[in-house]
Amino acid sequence: MTQPAAAAPARTVTVRVPAKVNVQLSVGGLRPDGFHGLANVFLAVGLYDSVSATRAEQPRLTVSGPDAALVPQDRTNLAARAARLLAQRHGISPDVHLHIAKDIPVAGGMAGGSADAAGALLACDRLWGLGSTREELLQLCAELGSDVPFSFAGGAALGEGRGEKLTPLEVGGTFHWVFAVAEGGLSTPDVYRECDRLREQHGGSSEADVPAPTADPALLAALRTGDPQALAAAVRNDLQPAALSLRPALAETLTAGLEAGALAALVSGSGPTCAFLVADAASATRTAQTLTASGTCRTARPATGPAPGATVV
Ligand code: C5P
Repeated sequence: MTQPAAAAPARTVTVRVPAKVNVQLSVGGLRPDGFHGLANVFLAVGLYDSVSATRAEQPRLTVSGPDAALVPQDRTNLAARAARLLAQRHGISPDVHLHIAKDIPVAGGMAGGSADAAGALLACDRLWGLGSTREELLQLCAELGSDVPFSFAGGAALGEGRGEKLTPLEVGGTFHWVFAVAEGGLSTPDVYRECDRLREQHGGSSEADVPAPTADPALLAALRTGDPQALAAAVRNDLQPAALSLRPALAETLTAGLEAGALAALVSGSGPTCAFLVADAASATRTAQTLTASGTCRTARPATGPAPGATVV
């Protein structure tokens, strides 16, 4: 009797990964290691990159999408570093063609680069048949960057330490958002440095000067109950003054969104993308149209959260 042929190993694995918004980003003092202690409440939202891993003779990385030219397409790309880290841990060679279909704003404060790294880890793990556990992959994510574990996990979570120590959070409903994408990006280290500089003018920026950050119980309750009004009253981003200092025109974007009826307006992470919490899907469509027409941003896009983390498609 002939045996059925064993399934051929996959030639390509594609993983979809979400963007994030920080509904609370409380930044502690500058640590001796150059990072800041955070109370970082992440919410994954439905803007996605796709990362495809295909067997190849040697490492290669390509990017598609309207902003592909803004993404480094060499070995410095965080997704390429993720593939090399995984291969190195397993003593194999990182011969893979990674292709990133880019839809998350580049250098926009929505963790697009972190999402690509999380996607590359999962795609390569499955392509190479390594069978890593979720915990093993999350550990590698934390080595790659502060936001990478959350990009992998998705949903909603409190990130402590430098943001990599995750506690999943319950979310009692769908929140509707509009994201105003700016012309050009902001560098995350530059924004943290500006935050420190501004703090130096008001009492200091070290851990001794800045209270240890903690998650706001009212904000966690708003997520749990799915109440957009309560969430709007609680959102907070300690990096916002720094992002506005580096990019003063963002104040006009925030005002335009509030005038269009948003419940809350804040800079997303280190910016320059601005995030607007709105009441429902109809308000999201309307607010996105008004913001796009306002001329205060490049484009405005509705999205809902929470969204799932890295998923093989
Ligand atoms: O961890 P990641 O590589 O994404 O961090 C990029 C930069 O952002 C760090 O080098 C640091 O300047 C800043 N950062 C920080 N505190 C954090 C996370 C990031 O100062 N908790």
